[in-house]
Amino acid sequence: MLAENHPDEIKAIFAKYPVKRSAVMPLLYLAQREEGYIQKESMQEIAAMLELDVTEVAAIVGFYTMYHDEKAGKYRMQVCNDLPCALRGADKFLEHLCENIGVKIGETTPDGLITIEEVKCLGGCDRAPLFQLQQGDKVTYHENMNIDKTMELVDALRKAQE
Ligand code: FES
Repeated sequence: MLAENHPDEIKAIFAKYPVKRSAVMPLLYLAQREEGYIQKESMQEIAAMLELDVTEVAAIVGFYTMYHDEKAGKYRMQVCNDLPCALRGADKFLEHLCENIGVKIGETTPDGLITIEEVKCLGGCDRAPLFQLQQGDKVTYHENMNIDKTMELVDALRKAQE
């Protein structure tokens, strides 16, 4: 499907890289641009194009927080709860956030606005609790957060929807 839908872009991507497998990131980006996440079929297609194992491609998708293998709401709220952040209360923060928003980790609010995700280190370990908020390609970082500040942000996002 990718090759069928984007032959010129794929040709241009391959032209930039002397080694085929180096094109994996832009090809994943291209696949994600379609639906907001990367479907299994696209990973298989990319793996075949690059002569990689599909598990290698899936591992890249799994490693980077900017790639997604599942559909989500308009915003992805990605909270780091890796050990250094957990020591600064990120686990409790995430638990309370889920309670306040009314979803479990990985779920999306019924209005389709926010998906809560847990992620590994975002590079701000001394400023936890923190999360990144993704809307398509746009990412904002929110550090030294608490539930009150976060719910204010959620309310603002909800109001902007109306
Ligand atoms: S461990 Fe959470 S930002 Fe580094």
